[in-house]
Amino acid sequence: MSVADARFFEAPARAEAAGAVAAAFGDVFGETPEGVWSAPGRVNLVGEHVDYTGGLCLPLALPHRTFVALSPRHDDVVRVRSAQEAGADWEGSLSEVGPGAPDGWAAYVAGVAWAMGTAHGFDAVVDGHVPLGSGLSSSAALECAVAIALADLDDLPTDDAGRAELAAACVQAENVVAGAATGGMDQAASLRCRPGGGILLDTRDDTVEHLPLDLAAAGLALLVVDTRAAHSHSGGEYGARRADVERAARLLGVPTLREVDPDDLDDALERLAAAAGPGDDVAVLRRRVRHAVTEIDRVRRTADLLRAGRAREVAPLLDASHESLRHDYEVSCRELDLAVDAARSAGALAARMTGGGFGGSAIALVEAGAVGAVAQEVARAFADARLRAPQFLSALPSAGAGRDA
Ligand code: GLA
Repeated sequence: MSVADARFFEAPARAEAAGAVAAAFGDVFGETPEGVWSAPGRVNLVGEHVDYTGGLCLPLALPHRTFVALSPRHDDVVRVRSAQEAGADWEGSLSEVGPGAPDGWAAYVAGVAWAMGTAHGFDAVVDGHVPLGSGLSSSAALECAVAIALADLDDLPTDDAGRAELAAACVQAENVVAGAATGGMDQAASLRCRPGGGILLDTRDDTVEHLPLDLAAAGLALLVVDTRAAHSHSGGEYGARRADVERAARLLGVPTLREVDPDDLDDALERLAAAAGPGDDVAVLRRRVRHAVTEIDRVRRTADLLRAGRAREVAPLLDASHESLRHDYEVSCRELDLAVDAARSAGALAARMTGGGFGGSAIALVEAGAVGAVAQEVARAFADARLRAPQFLSALPSAGAGRDA
């Protein structure tokens, strides 16, 4: 048996990370930035792939954040630098920003200013501490850090209603400028979460209920396994899933699958088969609908348990979510299934993939004292399967986007 160490990806202290990005700004632009802001990555406890069909989801903010040091300019020029990647600079004018432009990571910075209708340019240095490509929303963290910075500088409201508007602008930047047809869960989590809890997000009207998630009081912890598996097909597959549920909703004559009552699921699946046309793969559409409808119901039931302070009892719902994503929605992959199976056999109460899938991360609900042991077993399973070593994060429910300095 191979020996593997579980490597944890720790979040730096906020003040330290804010100081570092301000210093980097000084090095690049030769002056002190107007301010430093940051926004977190997220994990989703349950409610996966339902945010683009009117569903409910239940994400929480990670302690891992993306920082931006920024100063406004008097013209419409935007200059952005990455503290991580030398040479990944972008410089342009706001008038050049629009559908599909710029490409690359600058879309998530300049695109946000475009979507917010910001009237001035800015200089910015970005420093991310959300692992890239991990399915933990590093791109939403970047968008939301820029959005909160611009809102703060331009005196836009940053109460919860204001944050809901900022989230909508970030989604707009992602959908239109970056060209990724994602839903709105990640941006809502990054902007609207509060320490100590998750948000029950209703994507039908973007309302949020703050739910307590005091796992420590229940003797539990949430362990994140970043499989570090590349998810190169995620763009096309994600869009294909979205197209499936939109087609299914049209066939059922409802605006979104949220309108399908879980008690009438069997009936809806029969109606779907009857309404399908020659170009439809009925078996596939039935599975997609079954995932969406049962997943939304699992979120409802998880929220009820959390409201009642019965966090431990959510375990079977999380497990069922993974099986549904794996078999009905088909967005899991070998590495995610291995992480989930290994965590469960190492004693996790529950485990499931989190985020978009096809690589990325899984979460495991574990006894507080067993975090290290479960991580070790998962690392060992990856080593035995000769897969790239995963890394681990602790998901302590943390603060949403805000000003650091
Ligand atoms: C990605 C998207 C989100 C959501 C999840 C799946 O993270 O950005 O909008 O659809 O996948 O739940």
